[in-house]
Parts: sequence; structure tokens; C-alpha cells
Amino acid sequence: MQGFARGLPKAELHVHLEGTLEPGLLLELAARHRVLLPYRSPAEVRAAYRFSDLPSFLALYYRNLAVLRDEEDFRRLTLAYLERAAGDGVRHAEVSFDAQSHTARGVPLGAVIEGIWEGLAVGEGLHGMSTRLIMCFLRDRDVGEAERTLTEALAYRGRLSGVGLDSAERGHPPGAFAGVFARARAEGLAAVAHAGEEGPAEYVREALDELHVQRVDHGVRAADDPELVARLRRERVPLTMCPLSNVKLGVVPRLEEHPLKRLLDAGLVVTVNSDDPAYFGGYLVDNLVAAQEALGLRRRDLVRLARNSFEAALLDEEERRGYFAEVDGFAARRGVAV
Ligand code: ADE
Ligand code: ZN
Repeated sequence: MQGFARGLPKAELHVHLEGTLEPGLLLELAARHRVLLPYRSPAEVRAAYRFSDLPSFLALYYRNLAVLRDEEDFRRLTLAYLERAAGDGVRHAEVSFDAQSHTARGVPLGAVIEGIWEGLAVGEGLHGMSTRLIMCFLRDRDVGEAERTLTEALAYRGRLSGVGLDSAERGHPPGAFAGVFARARAEGLAAVAHAGEEGPAEYVREALDELHVQRVDHGVRAADDPELVARLRRERVPLTMCPLSNVKLGVVPRLEEHPLKRLLDAGLVVTVNSDDPAYFGGYLVDNLVAAQEALGLRRRDLVRLARNSFEAALLDEEERRGYFAEVDGFAARRGVAV
């Protein structure tokens, strides 16, 4: 199954670039910038990665970002992720970043965006893949800051394909960001948002109705609400699910109880993604294999997930057709009917 999952052409649509910061690069950048961290080895870093919920993870994730200081750091981080993704058979990657987590520390937005952009351009060439960039607003900071961040980011409009919404969800419903999302959409940016990770199904509905998102990151809690499930299926709203993340942060008690397979079987546009792979024990293939083992996914389910990933991607129709043909060709060569 590993070989099949790896060889299958696929898109990754939900990955936080900052969540791909591996312990080795973390320590190297800490030494380079003389940032004091409470770890001396990658093993010590890994030992500290035990989380009880989303806020306990975010505290550590934001603290580690202190090592990302200049354009070159962002370029390297991006290139390292794309190399791993390409090794997992990812043909198209949509990378999110948390602008405010860097600008709030005094790192210029230009250094963040240009560094990531350079990494994406070089990585595309090296690995023969396509990429997009999504800027997430932090929902646990004030809306005015998100507004100012969007204004500043519009100087780099050509680098961005979409906006998202992330960080601590509980008590931070999406509706507060309706204005800034409307402005982003008017600029031609795609809208996505985390919803239904720690927050309730109602936040998923609010992201659809008030932010007008075209896909939902996670959406696990939507499974609790049959009417919402019916709507997601009817409107073909994709869910970018992240099984290993959901177990590590207690969103589901065990992978066996993850609603991914049930929603896939119900006809929703479910996709599998890695979220913060350096923190949650694996990249995209690790997520697919873990889900396959816990939920009994068959090869044709994996093919459906791969097709869904390209359906949900921010691609133009010609690129999308090309990727569908790659998936279908792979499935045909392996004797899997789609
Ligand atoms: N930022 C990085 N990872 C996140 C997650 N899983 N949920 C919300 N915000 C995040
Ligand atoms: Zn996420």
C-alpha cells in the first residue's frame, strides 16, 4: 500500500509552511541567529512534541518560529517541504503561511513572501510540480490586524492565490472576519478557512455563509450534523482533512473514529493532507497509509481521494484536466477501476 499511496499523483492543499519546520532545521537556524531554545538535539525537540489540544500545540509552534528571521530562512523552509512533498508523489502543493506570526516579531512581510516565493519557484523547477500560496489570518488576534495585513500583502498580490483563517478556533467564530474576506475575494483571491477542527459544526456553516469560502480546512465536526453533511455534498464543498493532526490534537480520540471514510463514502469531496507534518508524525503518504490501515481504505478510495485533491485545488481547468489524466492513467496501470 505504501508504494501505491506514494506513486499515486496527488495534491496537498492543507499544509502550514511553518508546520514543516523539522527539528534539524530548527536547531540549525537557532544557532545561525543565536536564538536560545530549550533543546540541544533533534531527539529532545521531538520529545517535547506532546500536545493535549490545539492551544497547547500552537504555543510551541509559535515559539519555534523565533528562528525564522530572514528571506533565506523562508526560502530554505519552502524548498525542504517541496522536496519531501515531491518524494511523496505530490504533483501540486498549496502552501499556507501565517503572515502575522512573523510581522508581529518584526520580520518584514516582504522577506516572508519573497523568500517563500523564491522557494516555490525553485522547487517547481527542481521537482516538476505546481504550487500556490495561501495567506492565513490569525483568528485569535484582532480583525484590524488582519485588515492591515491584507492591505500590506496586496503589494504582493501576484504571489498570492488565496486567503485562509487559522489558529485557536474555540471562541473565535469565522463571522468576525467577513469584511476582510470580502475584500480579499473582491481582489480575486480564493477564500478558505479552518472550521470544525476544535470548533463546532456551526462554525463550518458560518464560514460558508459569511466568509463564502470555497473549501473548508478540517471540517471534522461537520460530520456531527447530517443537514450540513448533505449541504457539503450537494454544493461539492471540499474538506481538507488531516488525520494524524486530528489524533495528535485530540480532535478525534482514535484514528479508527475519524469520519473521513464515512464522508468519502457519502460522496463528499474529502481530501487527505498533512497540516503540520514536522509536529504530527508524518507527511502526506504517512497520513494516507495511517488512514488506510485504521479505516480500511481500499485502493479505489485512495484514487478517489487523489481525484478529489485535484478537484478541490486552485488550478485552472486545463491544469486540472492534466492532473486528472495522470491519476486515471496511474489507476488504469494498476488495474484499479475508477
Ligand atoms: N496553525 C497551524 N496548524 C494549525 C491547526 N491545525 N489549526 C489551526 N491553526 C493552525
Ligand atoms: Zn491547519
